[in-house]
Amino acid sequence: MPGKPQPVRKAVLPVAGMGTRFLPATKAVPKEMLPVVDKPVVQYAVEEAREAGIEQFIFVTGRGKGIIEDHFDHAYELEALLSEREKAGELNSLLEDLPVTGAVSFTRQQKPLGLGHAVWCARHLVGEEPFAVLLPDDLLVGEPGGLAQMMEAYNRVGGGVIVAAEEKPLEEVKRYGVITPGKIDGNAVEVKAVIEKPEPAKAPSRLCIIGRYILQPEIFGELDRQEPGAGGEIQLTDSMARLIGRVPFHAVRTACARYDCGDRLGFLQANLALALRRPDIAPELRRLLAEIGP
Ligand code: G1P
Repeated sequence: MPGKPQPVRKAVLPVAGMGTRFLPATKAVPKEMLPVVDKPVVQYAVEEAREAGIEQFIFVTGRGKGIIEDHFDHAYELEALLSEREKAGELNSLLEDLPVTGAVSFTRQQKPLGLGHAVWCARHLVGEEPFAVLLPDDLLVGEPGGLAQMMEAYNRVGGGVIVAAEEKPLEEVKRYGVITPGKIDGNAVEVKAVIEKPEPAKAPSRLCIIGRYILQPEIFGELDRQEPGAGGEIQLTDSMARLIGRVPFHAVRTACARYDCGDRLGFLQANLALALRRPDIAPELRRLLAEIGP
């Protein structure tokens, strides 16, 4: 039985991406702030992380992303107005959503050089401890949440690197990091190799990384000297590949539905799926959808 690994207290949320798959909506509004039902995409990732025991949230932002900071802060005028109008329900839910003072930090990725570079930008805020990475575009819906399921596997297999993964159709693997799977242990599978965005003919499997990671601080040493890879970007996958053999490395098939909110259709699907789970909205929405027809 492996010993208990070091707890994961910090999460990095890369939110500097320009949202080029979602124009013109994302010209002036960060894609992470688009609402799924009535909550911005990024808030789902923060809640998922919080549920998994994360205490520190590190956002890697960029120019034009300032309203993400505002979203995780007090909105005094609004709070005063809600309190004046005796809208206690709305006010309390806003206050409950607020992170604890000092639990949120922001750093900037000054150039769009890739996901690996975005994570590297957080190196001083993370320091020498394991940490999670959540890509907010990937909205995971499940109970417990995606990261909590990964934490359970992390503790079971003895720590190391954990990525979330799911099978994709072969023609889609070129959009993802793809895994060479090894031994299976419950919902975890050993990762023997990873490759970023392979052509289908060269893909080692159809098991693709989706946007959740538990990483070890050794990754920063690799990112320090990481050369650009697929698409000319500094790829997190390439640096993770170099940790294979040095730390345990597993992929977890979460029992979650995953929606790609950086994509128009994925975003619409997320909105419908989550609205249909909401008792206050679902009956009326079903009626409206029937009205639209097939
Ligand atoms: C990134 C990662 C890729 C991963 C994907 C999941 O790609 O580089 O390995 O499979 O997220 O969404 P991106 O979507 O930034 O191109």
